[in-house]
Amino acid sequence: MKREHWGSRIGLVLAVAGNAVGLGNFLRFPVQAAKHGGGAFMIPYFLAFLLLGIPLMWVEWTIGRFGGARGHGTTPGMFDEMWKHPIAKYIGSIGVLLPLMIGVYYVYVMTWSLGYAFYSLVGKMNFTVFSQAKDFFNGYIGVAHNSYFSSLTPAYIFYLIGFALTIIVIMRGVSGGIEKLAKIAMPALFIFAILLVIRVLTIGTPDPVNHPTWNINNGLGFMWNPRFDALKEGSTWLAAAGQIFFTLSLGIGAIQCYASYVRENEDIALAGLTTASTNEFAEVILGGTIAIPAAFAFFGPEISKIAGTFDLGFKTLPLVFAKIPFGSIFSALWFLLLFFAGITSSVALAQPPVAFLEDELGIERSKAAIIVGIILFVFSQPVIFFLSHGFLDEIDWWMGTFGLAFFATLEIFIFNYAFGTRRAWEELHKGAKIRVPGIFYYIIRYVTPIFLLFIFLYWSLTDGKAKLLMEGVSPQDRPYIILARVIMLIFLLAGIVLVKIAWNRKHRNGKIEEAIQ
Ligand code: ALA
Repeated sequence: MKREHWGSRIGLVLAVAGNAVGLGNFLRFPVQAAKHGGGAFMIPYFLAFLLLGIPLMWVEWTIGRFGGARGHGTTPGMFDEMWKHPIAKYIGSIGVLLPLMIGVYYVYVMTWSLGYAFYSLVGKMNFTVFSQAKDFFNGYIGVAHNSYFSSLTPAYIFYLIGFALTIIVIMRGVSGGIEKLAKIAMPALFIFAILLVIRVLTIGTPDPVNHPTWNINNGLGFMWNPRFDALKEGSTWLAAAGQIFFTLSLGIGAIQCYASYVRENEDIALAGLTTASTNEFAEVILGGTIAIPAAFAFFGPEISKIAGTFDLGFKTLPLVFAKIPFGSIFSALWFLLLFFAGITSSVALAQPPVAFLEDELGIERSKAAIIVGIILFVFSQPVIFFLSHGFLDEIDWWMGTFGLAFFATLEIFIFNYAFGTRRAWEELHKGAKIRVPGIFYYIIRYVTPIFLLFIFLYWSLTDGKAKLLMEGVSPQDRPYIILARVIMLIFLLAGIVLVKIAWNRKHRNGKIEEAIQ
């Protein structure tokens, strides 16, 4: 079967940027930075970007193109080609499991922003106090029934719309679906973000009489003034590394998959750098200027109490927009921005399992998309209905945080020590017009693996242990956490079994071909 390719270089860069730029840039980043030392957070953040982010981006592009040229869009096949050891393909199955499991909750969360964009436009979000925004949110996600929402039906309808769009895009294929979406969504996203940045920077001092210091300058200061004390905390360094993984979509299996559709001589060194830089621009410059500074101008330093990842985006900001002229338009822009950021990442999470079914099991694209759609749909039901019981958080921690460090650690060792750094370096530069500075050879070979190993071990022994033992989980929530774990385990085993079936099938087909010849 002939593999698909991206239609154009700009389409490729926009699609991979769409893969990386997501909710993480606009919701997760500002909260992490403000919580862990403001401007000081940028030190571990950029260090993690240089020592983990950029090197892994090149590693994953190299693995992706190498695998794609041999007919594999996912890591089971890629690792199998790179390392002739029977276990390689099973390790690779994690790179299909992670995007699928992250997709199970990511697609649902992404559709909240669609619902919120709608309610902004119809004027249902004219809050005057924080408790209203909070009630609205709790009502929308179904953890409370109140005057705003008496059931989950509206959220469910927006979920169905966003979910259907994701699957339709995937069914249309790489250049006909994903690339087309990125060509519309990414420019729109940047325009919306720039409009919002301009609006936020011109907020001034909303209440000069009572709160003269609550202004946009101090809001930027709140976000960016360094509080170096935070650097003494191990959690700051880990938060920075975790953010880099999540925001660049590294250690998931998603970048490798997109890279598998490039042409043989595409300049992946440059493309990797371009997508990483585009993501950082969206995150640090745009993401860092919108939510926290705007919230500060209206609520002052108190925002540290109301700035959890979702609190900031879905409660505090709607309240801010309700206080400015044409606020409903800006509110809609904000949520559409999140929706575009979210849907381009959702399709990137759904594509690897589809590619696995296509490439390794010979299932036709639209059928593969429907199968993945059914799996995503079925397993998102507990996420939607058991949200208040920690079901989503449990999957997010194991799959969306720990899993990335775990998978990236295995990946970098296979890359350096099974495939060989020298061979990989040549592979990275094939067709490249730029040369990656030689120091990165040593970073990729020695520094990134040690950094990754350290994070993985640290997480295993601290948060991982606490999570495993369900510390702090109430007895009522325990059954839900156990259910989440059973589902993750079933997925893990199913992945291994499917890989086995796929390779047996290839082996059989290979023998038949040999016999015919
Ligand atoms: N990289 C994606 C995000 O930042 C997953 O949301």
